[in-house]
Amino acid sequence: MSSSAELAAQLPKKTNSHVTHIPGNSGLPVIGSTYGFLTDFPGLTKKMVSQYGEVYRSNALFQNAISLVGPDGNEFILKDAERNFSSKRAWDTVLEKIFPNGLMLRDFENHKYHRKILQGAFKKAPMQGYVGQMNPAISAGINHWPVDAEFKFFDHIKTLLLDTGAEVFLGATLDEKEAKKINQAFIDAVDATLAVVRFPIPGNTWYRGMKGRKILENFIQALIPEKRQSSSGDFFSQICDAKDEDGNQLSDSDVVDHMIFLLFAAHDTTTSTLSSMIYLLAKNPEWQTAVREEMENIENDNITYDELSNLEKTGWVFKETLRMCPALPTIPRRAVRECEYKGYRIPKNATVSAHPLYTHFMPEYWTNPETFDPERWSPERAEYKKHFFQFAPFGGGAHKCLGLNFAEIQSKIFLFHFLRTYTVSVTPGYTMPVQTVPIAMPKDGLLVTIRRN
Ligand code: HEM
Repeated sequence: MSSSAELAAQLPKKTNSHVTHIPGNSGLPVIGSTYGFLTDFPGLTKKMVSQYGEVYRSNALFQNAISLVGPDGNEFILKDAERNFSSKRAWDTVLEKIFPNGLMLRDFENHKYHRKILQGAFKKAPMQGYVGQMNPAISAGINHWPVDAEFKFFDHIKTLLLDTGAEVFLGATLDEKEAKKINQAFIDAVDATLAVVRFPIPGNTWYRGMKGRKILENFIQALIPEKRQSSSGDFFSQICDAKDEDGNQLSDSDVVDHMIFLLFAAHDTTTSTLSSMIYLLAKNPEWQTAVREEMENIENDNITYDELSNLEKTGWVFKETLRMCPALPTIPRRAVRECEYKGYRIPKNATVSAHPLYTHFMPEYWTNPETFDPERWSPERAEYKKHFFQFAPFGGGAHKCLGLNFAEIQSKIFLFHFLRTYTVSVTPGYTMPVQTVPIAMPKDGLLVTIRRN
């Protein structure tokens, strides 16, 4: 019998659309439910579940997909105990050309091998080093944010994370011109993942994205010899230094691909989460005070790795933000073989989707799920304990986010400096308009006002 890896490699590029035996509908002719998918993804999911139940088919972005909604669906797809699902073949559709060979674009044994090597960069000792680098970068970065006047939080946090990313990930202190060039190259590459026209015409999104990718490749490639020699502790040196059990290191081209993918995996997800967190804290000032009080117990100007794990209420706020606003509301896979879920046949090469966002609002698992209530994470209430897959903002199983601790640490360090310096508010009655897919983002940039404490 062929292995899952062999089966995945043999799948045709185009997904299997023969899924009409699954309850659901194809939406409008040609465009299917693409409009609803892009403009109101949570509403569309709710409607489909109420009409067809927790296993349904739909058509969006010109392909049919089978949704398995709820914690059992998350578990079946993400834990993938039977190795039925390829991550690579699902993500290839959007990411293959711009972010090739990243971890999410690898499967089974090959994925396991690369993931194990990369894990070295996320262990405690290197993490302690990143904390040391992030503190001054974040503290200096927020110092000149505009006070007492409304501004777009999203734009500022995006720039801050790009700048600190260059330092912490690449270990590069870039001059302003160089930083601008690299940041723009990165933004262009990410934008291209959503391009409708996916071939280069000078000036179009795809052209700029491919050019951006090339700039990043050259920049990273040129630094590799120096990074292989250095023990500077930044992320890039860690990846260059990482070895498998036999002492083999990653090739230069693997280092380039992993570094570019890591920048991608880390950036928009953290930007999204911090924007949602600041919005929720601005709307719930009592929690802003509670988190600030926790921060004020720390005497030094910088927070240490150990102190970060003691920030209990801040941890609850981080998790509650991810429950209400998971950066990735849905996670796709491709079936490498025919399989069965709760009596439904999933054909080979069908696209299947897990739905963390929907699961995070199911009243069977969460008390008043629409309410921002960080205490649900307290040991006394521990609402998350009913099902291992009821909370899946970082996915689960073999592809569970490799940077989840990094993301929590970075978010807490940001809050530490931000809330000790500023109080944040939004205009009374303001509701942040959210674009949910492919990554949750404020449509208006999140309009906030900050004042110095
Ligand atoms: C709050 C911020 C973040 C969120 C919500 C998030 C979410 C996710 C999710 C849902 C996945 C699984 C995708 C799938 O199964 O198809 C994932 C994978 C991944 N994430 Fe994150 N992520 C965040 C931050 C980061 C950071 C900071 C890094 C790196 C420093 C990172 C690196 C990765 C990598 C490498 C993978 C692929 C893992 C694999 O395929 O084995 N993420 N992330």
